[in-house]
Amino acid sequence: MRFDVSKGAQYSTLSPALAVGDSEPDRNLALELVRVTEAAAIAGGHWVGFGDKNAADGAAVDAMRSLISTVHFNGVVVIGEGEKDEAPMLYNGEHVGDGTGALCDVAVDPIDGTRLTALGINNALAVLAVAERGTMFDPSAVFYMEKLVTGPEAADMVDLRLPVKQNLHLIAKAKGKKINQLNVMVLERDRHKPLVQEIRDAGARTRMLMDGDVAGGIAAAREGTDVDALMGIGGTPEGIITACAVKTLGGVIQGRLWPTSDDEKQKAIDAGHDLDRVMSTNDLVWSDNCYFAATGITDGDLLRGVRYKKDRVLTQSIVMRSKSGTIRVVDGEHQAHKWESYARTN
Ligand code: FBP
Repeated sequence: MRFDVSKGAQYSTLSPALAVGDSEPDRNLALELVRVTEAAAIAGGHWVGFGDKNAADGAAVDAMRSLISTVHFNGVVVIGEGEKDEAPMLYNGEHVGDGTGALCDVAVDPIDGTRLTALGINNALAVLAVAERGTMFDPSAVFYMEKLVTGPEAADMVDLRLPVKQNLHLIAKAKGKKINQLNVMVLERDRHKPLVQEIRDAGARTRMLMDGDVAGGIAAAREGTDVDALMGIGGTPEGIITACAVKTLGGVIQGRLWPTSDDEKQKAIDAGHDLDRVMSTNDLVWSDNCYFAATGITDGDLLRGVRYKKDRVLTQSIVMRSKSGTIRVVDGEHQAHKWESYARTN
């Protein structure tokens, strides 16, 4: 049996014209979104450590799509699982929500860290970001972006165009730290070998991430972590999602598109993008009414992963609303039998 979504409208029959309200998204939306990421994390979490990232992702996508159809808003997926012909669910352009509330852009990442989930490694999250309709950057065909994320202290000082060493000195100065006390998160990729060398030559430390630069970006912007910056090239969708969180956290994400082929480059130019432009948080999402929700799948710097007990499933989530600046960490205790339909079936 699937999770009961009968109270929600059928997304497939929705159209913007059916919306009865086009008011601004309100504060209740934040808590509704947590239910959606909790569902994705519980479903994806069943696959932690079984080595099958596609099954994990499929389960999380399914659950996210079921629950998001019950949310009181009129959302359209602008960052989703792909174009309609390649992704049957949560595809770009799909209408989601019960269609009765505010008009919103929706960015979904049912699992940021599918490989982490499959391998049982830290930092996999189920993630959802929402902003007012028409306010999320459209990266066209460009999948990668150079990124620099840091917290509020150094937000107005850093600049992606500066040498890495200079940015690190600015961050250290702003935070009142010695350069050798800085921790910089970087995705572990061959393309980052020169960057990692530059960071170490400058005297700072690296914290390598196997995957999951949404969690890394948030750790870099959030107060109270020991991460001072995230640097390097990662997914553009993840960059826009991170920007939705940074709107509440403070700090900055700067990004510059990084096309990987002439074809991608040409498509971006044809779509009107300036490939030299350094975008800042407000260029990636320009609404001041943004929502970000994430639930831990595996344990991580940000959140605890899903725990399956005999009768209960325990989750930990973070939810943010930029308009109020509220950040909530939500511990969920769910009755296990309600989630049996998402249990792994292999
Ligand atoms: P998925 O879980 O969707 O595979 O993404 C993981 C991730 O590490 C992102 O966090 C990151 O932005 C992107 O992949 C980097 O892409 P690549 O693995 O191609 O370097």
